Amino acid sequence: MLDWWRDAVVYQVYPRSFADASGDGVGDLQGVRGKLGYLSDLGVDAIWLSPFYTSPLADGGYDVADYRDVDPRFGTLADFDALVADAHALGIRVIVDIVPNHTSSAHPWFRDGLRERYIFRDEPNDWQSIFGGPAWTQVSDGQWYLHLFDPSQPDLNWDNPDVRAEFRDILRFWLDRGVDGFRIDVAHGMVKAAGLPSVGTASSVEMLDDADVPYFDQDGVHDIYREWRPILDSYPGGRMAVAEAWVASPERLARYIGPDELHQAFNFEFMMASYGAKSFRDVIDKSLAEARVVGAPTTWVLSNHDKPRHVTRHGSLARARAATLLMLALPGSAYLYNGEELGLPEVLDLPDELREDPAFLRTGESRDGCRVPLPWTRDLGWTNPWLPIPASWGELSVEAQEGDPGSTLEFYRAALRLRRGLSGDEVTWLDSPKDVLAMRRGITVVMNTGETPVPIDGQVLLASGPLGADGSLPPDTTVWLVTGE
Ligand code: BGC
Repeated sequence: MLDWWRDAVVYQVYPRSFADASGDGVGDLQGVRGKLGYLSDLGVDAIWLSPFYTSPLADGGYDVADYRDVDPRFGTLADFDALVADAHALGIRVIVDIVPNHTSSAHPWFRDGLRERYIFRDEPNDWQSIFGGPAWTQVSDGQWYLHLFDPSQPDLNWDNPDVRAEFRDILRFWLDRGVDGFRIDVAHGMVKAAGLPSVGTASSVEMLDDADVPYFDQDGVHDIYREWRPILDSYPGGRMAVAEAWVASPERLARYIGPDELHQAFNFEFMMASYGAKSFRDVIDKSLAEARVVGAPTTWVLSNHDKPRHVTRHGSLARARAATLLMLALPGSAYLYNGEELGLPEVLDLPDELREDPAFLRTGESRDGCRVPLPWTRDLGWTNPWLPIPASWGELSVEAQEGDPGSTLEFYRAALRLRRGLSGDEVTWLDSPKDVLAMRRGITVVMNTGETPVPIDGQVLLASGPLGADGSLPPDTTVWLVTGE
């Protein structure tokens, strides 16, 4: 099926934290390979691997030193090939992360002083780094280079034809190895406005900037995707690309999608929405309208490696499960983040000295709490994990949850199994009390975000938590129902 991605469930693997086969405390590709049976049982269609390339890991691998090799901590190219072969044998597709806005400062181009491939200037402008502080760092001869992220992540100069040729070749390298798609990091970056105009404010930049900013969402970025699409299309089997593009409006996002550009863009609105019937309904309406503009089904995300896990963000496991069951009923594809199927919360009390997120040093905010390794067994299943795993997570481990019908893991398995029976691009809202969402998409979905139980009518397919003794839908619970109509 060439457009397999349209309604796919894609499971994001953060390789450092998923599973450790070598026993060195850092997850690896053999670890992922060893858990493919688990992922197949979970019922995912594809995995997306966050970067596993050669890297100093200054930004968890989003600082790439060699785009064509595997970091020794994660394994070898042979491990990657074996992982792809085994995944494909199980019917699981493989998406890899491509990081084209910047390299690592350990990349040979930067090391060898190929300044024309980066953005060097005699004077900095006033741009700020997403990770805090100025976006420019001075080198010994007095020049400055641009880094929208960490100083160890110099921005590439996409006006340089060698940069363009290199990335076309990198895409082919991984397509030749059998990958089914790419997640494009900072897909709205890369091209900067000519002359690098100052923004006239010293305030820090955000990934999503409603203002027209000269470093994001420039028209020229679309030329790059128009160069890339024929490459993807020249391979058999429906190779795809999904953009991490934070842009100001659905119209701007729509420009990334289409037969001559990319297949999908993340819709982060659902992840950013606060918990509640109105807020979810607004965002679903907006997202579905966006999908109509874009002409491609939307994507849904509740957690990833950059944001606090949704158990913590929404305030409880019950709420997280309710939001998940709502998400999984919606048309489009769903991106899951490793560990959400175990109901893992954000780890809030990591000691500062163990935090590795480069943003932490510059802003005090850290993404480490969602990157803590996954517990596989009651004794956690890791030796000296790179971030400490709370001992209490033994009870959240796969071993503890497997076979327990009330567990979050079995809940995800059931939801993904039933989701395969859903189809149709439209959602019909049904009348419902305030704080309750009710919709039809073949099945009826009811979510209660209020404080009192509500009556429901129909045959229960799945509920995100226990129903009341009288069959009513308790607060913070979602249910899938077969109803008469
Ligand atoms: C990734 C982040 C990373 C940044 C810089 C992103 O948006 O998801 O984890 O820090 O790009 O590469």
